[in-house]
Amino acid sequence: MIPLSQPDIDDRDRQAVMAAMQSPTLSGGPFLRQFEEEFARRTGRKYALAVSSGTAALHLGVRALGLSAGDEVITTPFSFIASANCLLYESVRPVFVDVEADTYGLDPDLVAAAITPSTRAVLPVHVFGQPCKIADIGTLCQSHGLVMIEDACEALLAGTGDRLVGSFGDVAVYGFYPNKQITSGEGGMLTTDSEEIYRKVKSLRNQGRDIETDEIRQIALGYNYRMSEINAALGGSQLQRINEIKALRKQILERYNQLFAGVAGIGLPSVVGNNDPSWFLYVVRVHADVRDELIQRLAMRGIQTKAYFSPPIHLQPYYRNKFGFSEGDFPVSERLSRECLALPFYNGLSSSDQERVVEGVSKSLGEIQGM
Ligand SMILES: Cc1ncc(COP(=O)(O)O)c(C=O)c1O
Repeated sequence: MIPLSQPDIDDRDRQAVMAAMQSPTLSGGPFLRQFEEEFARRTGRKYALAVSSGTAALHLGVRALGLSAGDEVITTPFSFIASANCLLYESVRPVFVDVEADTYGLDPDLVAAAITPSTRAVLPVHVFGQPCKIADIGTLCQSHGLVMIEDACEALLAGTGDRLVGSFGDVAVYGFYPNKQITSGEGGMLTTDSEEIYRKVKSLRNQGRDIETDEIRQIALGYNYRMSEINAALGGSQLQRINEIKALRKQILERYNQLFAGVAGIGLPSVVGNNDPSWFLYVVRVHADVRDELIQRLAMRGIQTKAYFSPPIHLQPYYRNKFGFSEGDFPVSERLSRECLALPFYNGLSSSDQERVVEGVSKSLGEIQGM
């Protein structure tokens, strides 16, 4: 079976984890501080706080920005569920607007049209590693006095124009699940330039403790969203290789695109505008009528693939029941969710396995068309 994704763990990663295991502190020690400092440096922000997941980072972003019941946050339905769930945790209302068909990210014109007196923030997501129109969304936020949580979980060190993604939001968040560009096993990071937000998040991730004292003094309702030294050691070690990893994934993506050049019926990923993506997935588009049959046939050929993001968030049963969403509410997101297909994509994917995938897709499509 050629898997959809696979972590890339090398000897340096194993040594870092062993060193963390042998140190006297398994939590809140030097590996965490190093990971955070290096992450802040590479993403160009003043502060970085490691947490237990990308979802935890999103939740703490919502809390630290003081968003609460009655507030509206404009966000995308074409995303991983956590980017909307984090709002529901605090009874904040997600106001979905549709995405662009090329970046798969929020359409700035639709964001502008959705702003009401209750809007407090925008939560854009850079999907699959391709930056959305974040500069335009940033300008909108500034002119309307809105804050921004930038979900860069899938786009570590992607750029657009002369800026990195994750440098636009009042807070930006990242995730290190094993299918991501770098992994810490499980884990996430929140970055910001605001000392106030930094202090709040540092307290909230550790039960809401007062960070000024070693005494146990709880000053807010917090959580255990801490990252262990073992996870931080792995994340910190992987981060050292991020530039190579980004280049390697670009190379693998371009090779796929070349191999697919002669295959009819496949839409290939491409760089939009002046973006510099940090590829998370290799997502192609196929006709909605063939997509699910294609997944089945590829599985029979030993090739794991996945419909992404399917269904979009607003059509997940929980959201349908809670808000009454239905088909047709966000047509671009819905079309993408019927057409997008993620193929195997990871650092260690060999050229011969890429050829097998392309041949498998081509043959399967031929079989379906001949049916
Ligand atoms: C866009 C997006 N947001 C948030 C998350 C949540 O991250 P985690 O799975 O680490 O909680 C993910 C990743 O899985 C993601 O892809």
